[in-house]
Amino acid sequence: MPVSPVDSPTDLRATAAAVAARVETAMHADLDLALAGCDPLLTEVLHYALFNGGKRIRPLLTVLSARCCGRDDDRLYLLAAAFEYLHVATLIHDDVIDRAPRRRGLDTVATRFGLAAAILAGDWLHARSMHLIGRLTGAEGLEVFCRATSSMVNGEFEQLRLVGDLEAGEEEYFKVIRQKTGNLIGSACVLGALFAGADDQRQRALATYGDHIGTAFQVVDDLLDFRGDQQATGKQTGNDFAEGKITLPLLHTLARATPEERHTLAALYAGDRSSEAAYRQLVALIEHHDGFTSTADVARQLIETAIASLAPFEQVDETQASVGLLRDLAGYILTRTR
Ligand code: IPE
Ligand code: IPE
Ligand code: MG
Ligand code: MG
Repeated sequence: MPVSPVDSPTDLRATAAAVAARVETAMHADLDLALAGCDPLLTEVLHYALFNGGKRIRPLLTVLSARCCGRDDDRLYLLAAAFEYLHVATLIHDDVIDRAPRRRGLDTVATRFGLAAAILAGDWLHARSMHLIGRLTGAEGLEVFCRATSSMVNGEFEQLRLVGDLEAGEEEYFKVIRQKTGNLIGSACVLGALFAGADDQRQRALATYGDHIGTAFQVVDDLLDFRGDQQATGKQTGNDFAEGKITLPLLHTLARATPEERHTLAALYAGDRSSEAAYRQLVALIEHHDGFTSTADVARQLIETAIASLAPFEQVDETQASVGLLRDLAGYILTRTR
């Protein structure tokens, strides 16, 4: 069952559900073809990872971007499916890296099927997504796609370097999240535009839009890691602290903390990060310094920039509905609870 953005405007919600259904049909048909003769366990793992929830935001972005540039046909949904494949590949591997127990309300692939299955299923999805992107968008599309994927890997490496490092600054944080999330979401938009034969100006506008909403998406994700309801997010809260990740609510708090509080924060990150009491103390300090509120403000600014970048699309009557949906989708990122 597709989980569409439920707390979004009605038109966006209906469009998201309709697009998710078409993308799922495309994924089922593609898997039937590509998995013919493959090991049944591979099929089982892929179906478990792909068809158990997920908001399908990246494929929705590909579809809306292409529609804004005047194309909407069956092949578009296969292109969009390739982005969901890549996304799910990164989630399966990310949960291994982050030692996360839950994803989309269920055990992670690694917990359920073991490490080998998680590594291999992620590899399969990554390979299949590249195959589809190459087939549908040629060398130019593959170049954009591979650049975003390489940057995602580099972002994850830089994030590992920053684990527990309270000297890290906002510049480093934003560099990590742009690479690990912003670029991939940006490439979902750019390839939609490229697929539709958009000119450079439109491709650039959608790249800026996608990079900014993608970065905001990760800022909000980092907020939800503290503030989210695990029933809604389907993920364990507090996992970023447990893994020593340095995210924006903490960085804002460090900038406002007294020397004594900085000392306390350093001790919390250097100590037992699986302790419930340590986590509660951290949350109290962030709240005391309004770190959650100011983090949400940063996400809002990124979303405003994203919406402003859609200006080149303002004049074309027949694509106005899709441009409006991209605007609504940007707004939804700020209010999302899952
Ligand atoms: C989670 O992405 C990973 C991040 C980049 C923060 P989503 O929140 O889009 O995950 P699903 O696809 O809805 O499960
Ligand atoms: C995910 O960042 C980034 C990628 C998938 C590359 P997170 O580690 O914050 O995502 P979640 O919270 O596990 O979904
Ligand atoms: Mg993670
Ligand atoms: Mg997260």
